[in-house]
Amino acid sequence: MAAHPPDVLVVGGGVIGLAAGYRLAQRGASVLVIDPGGDRGASWAAAGMLAPVTEAAFGEDELTRLNLAAVPAFRRLAGELDRAGRPVGLRTEGTLAVAFNADDRAALDRLTDFRTGLGLHTERLSGSAARELEPYLAAGVRGGVLAADDLSVDNRRYLAALRAAAGDAGVGFLAAEVSALLAEPDGRVTGVRTATGDELRAGTVVLCGGAATGALLPVPVQPVKGQIVRLAVPDRLRAAGPVLTRTVRGIVRGGEVYLVPRAGGEVVVGATSEQQGHDVGVTAGGVYELLRNAYELLPISSEFAFVEARAGSRPGTPDNGPILGRVADGLVLATGHYRNGILLSALTADAVAALVAGEPVAAVWQPFGPDRFAGSRAAPAVPA
Ligand code: FAD
Ligand code: GLY
Repeated sequence: MAAHPPDVLVVGGGVIGLAAGYRLAQRGASVLVIDPGGDRGASWAAAGMLAPVTEAAFGEDELTRLNLAAVPAFRRLAGELDRAGRPVGLRTEGTLAVAFNADDRAALDRLTDFRTGLGLHTERLSGSAARELEPYLAAGVRGGVLAADDLSVDNRRYLAALRAAAGDAGVGFLAAEVSALLAEPDGRVTGVRTATGDELRAGTVVLCGGAATGALLPVPVQPVKGQIVRLAVPDRLRAAGPVLTRTVRGIVRGGEVYLVPRAGGEVVVGATSEQQGHDVGVTAGGVYELLRNAYELLPISSEFAFVEARAGSRPGTPDNGPILGRVADGLVLATGHYRNGILLSALTADAVAALVAGEPVAAVWQPFGPDRFAGSRAAPAVPA
């Protein structure tokens, strides 16, 4: 631990806290990231899609703009890590969205109309054209849409790279759980108390607790459980060439599934979306649903090796957008990244560094301030 109070205490060492800590240290701040550790957060569970196009949902135009702005920021950060000898497995082959039956096709068409209406680049394909791109797709697949601007990253390599780069930039790490924010009677936040009773002071506290943020500050962040499975393509299949070249997302009898390939032969299959409080248990039904839908789209997936099943808590908010801003003197909040925290991490880190320095953030963040929930549980009242 630093002998003197650091300039910034970052609570939470997920992708948001690590990226923010890294950018803050690059700007010359002394930074301590506090997290109990153990890869329990959503960032470790995630699939790593960087998908502003195929995550664009009805009624979320501002979030789509934010997600689009996040891509160049992510590329910049990934490029830096790459040049420092820490490649993060960035893939640029795009996403192929496909439909399993006629109803699914109609649903995909409606989504595609909406996305093209937002100016997003999409290319509609027949079933056979989709199979030319991904030859192992099921023969019955009813057609697809290529979203060439979506990317993906190996989120676990990215996390490791961020942590190492942050350490190189001077960021310190403390394995501890924060139990409370320390505030003066006038509301100014001066530090944190850990679960073991230690009090740590800092010029600014940056709160990046993901789905657990609400335990420290009354914000409307709710966990949305996602179960996710990791498979591996056996060498005998890989010897004939890649089984999957790009991310495939499918609507299967109204349900959704995605398969995200990694360079090393791993395929990530996700994800359920469940309101289960903070439970992150894996269920037979969740895994069954994922593997069944994956098999419907890509029958050869039944020959893949089973590697892992886990679940994580997405930090959800009432409007599905992140919450970013200064909420009190000495306290910056960066949470609620829901389905897109990996994608938004670099853009968020730039914004956090600006906020701590007292600078304005990019205009695209304007709809995502904490004050938009004023009057609800989100108008963050700092506990004195
Ligand atoms: P987390 O990664 O959850 O990190 C929060 C950290 O805060 C944790 O390490 C926790 O230990 C720590 N913490 C909490 N409370 C305290 C405390 N009191 N004291 C100290 N530390 C504390 N996003 C994408 O962009 N692309 C995807 O493909 C994608 N797929 C996903 C798939 C699944 C199954 C899930 C669950 C999520 C997915 N997401 C995806 C969403 C993404 O993972 C999250 O938005 C992102 O990880 C949130 O990052 P975070 O740092 O805020 O939270
Ligand atoms: N963005 C993918 C997920 O949250 O499952």
